[in-house]
Amino acid sequence: MSKEVQIIIDGKTFHFPVIEGSEGEKAIDIAKLRDLTGYITLDTGYKNTGATKSAITFLDGEQGVLRYRGYPIEQLASKASFLEVSYLLIYGELPTLAQLENFKIRIQKHTNLHEDIKKVFDGFPSSAHPMGVLSSAVSSLTAYYPGSIDPNASEDEIDLTIVRLMAKLPTIAAWSYRNSKGMPLMYPKPKLGYCENFLYMMFAQPNEDFDIDPVVAEALNTLLILHADHEQNCSTSTVRIVGSAHASLYSSIAAGINALWGPLHGGANQEVIEMLDQIKSDGGDTQKWIAKAKDKNDPFRLMGFGHRVYKNFDPRAKIIKKACDDILSKLGVNDPVLEIAKELEQAALNDPYFVERKLYPNVDFYSGIIYRALGLKSDLFTVMFALGRLPGWIAQWKELRDAKEPIGRPRQIYTGHTTREYIPIEKRK
Ligand code: MLT
Repeated sequence: MSKEVQIIIDGKTFHFPVIEGSEGEKAIDIAKLRDLTGYITLDTGYKNTGATKSAITFLDGEQGVLRYRGYPIEQLASKASFLEVSYLLIYGELPTLAQLENFKIRIQKHTNLHEDIKKVFDGFPSSAHPMGVLSSAVSSLTAYYPGSIDPNASEDEIDLTIVRLMAKLPTIAAWSYRNSKGMPLMYPKPKLGYCENFLYMMFAQPNEDFDIDPVVAEALNTLLILHADHEQNCSTSTVRIVGSAHASLYSSIAAGINALWGPLHGGANQEVIEMLDQIKSDGGDTQKWIAKAKDKNDPFRLMGFGHRVYKNFDPRAKIIKKACDDILSKLGVNDPVLEIAKELEQAALNDPYFVERKLYPNVDFYSGIIYRALGLKSDLFTVMFALGRLPGWIAQWKELRDAKEPIGRPRQIYTGHTTREYIPIEKRK
């Protein structure tokens, strides 16, 4: 592999180093491009631009490969717990039994919220989308834990901030949901386990026994692992650029939650289930809707298909599709949209229109069906994505901070008016 590339501008040759990652990915290091040539690069949407070097997650879009710290997603999803995977992403190695126990105990200590945070929930109308409430409540943690704002905080203070957020986000998600429904808040029972405690806070009723179905808890564990990190996606890039300004972890994650809310990103899982319901309500004629998706004059597009990076099957979609079958049969749930989803998938996988455009099902295509089977309403699906993505966001924020990366500040090509004189208002036409 050549160690440099040459760019010739107006007859002058410039040399730029090539760097290679541990999986053979190659990049041209253009850190000195503008100083040497006066030129910048332009890559709207950053489709060909690396923002950083990272050791957290590797994905190969052509081969459909996804690994967290080198471990294949298939192994982690089938063998690990979400807290194990969270520890792996944040601290870089799978925890020993003692390390995992200590991590669990530290999280258990911090699952409660300051009572005043209920005022954040009360400040929203019950019609508010849960993602807006979630980001506001996470932002409010800077008020209750002002030590988290200090950019020069000690490693112990940073780690306490990390543990607090891991512990409190499920409580925030559950309380904001129940508050919006006028339901009594269920205080955490952290001894139950991370996923089990969330299910308890979401669905238990006061003064009633609450049996946690192990199938549901295991399904949630799998879904959270599958969503835990995905290298430099939109919301993670948001977390990193906000963190690069030395904003607090809570502020950076709140920004990431808002980015994830977008329907082109984490909001897609809600869009998918609403699309499947629309097709079901219309009689379930999947061929009719496939034709609409292919018709360039028709605004309808298939949600849950295609991906910026995966040009093959999203490995997470394969795992979720199998989990879907298992969970719905174990729970005895017969959701007609599952059959519609499978028909759409088969039609898309065999139709040249979709195959040529590499429109394979992605992680959002089946996840909503499982979330609904677990008893969640569709506007909570992106909240579930955020709960899963939290350790990845934290790991990426921590990696940027540990690497002392500079503040992110992209350049631009200006296309507006060239210089012109001010016109007094009485003379404007
Ligand atoms: C994700 O997991 O963040 C989504 O697949 C989007 C992405 O990676 O760009």
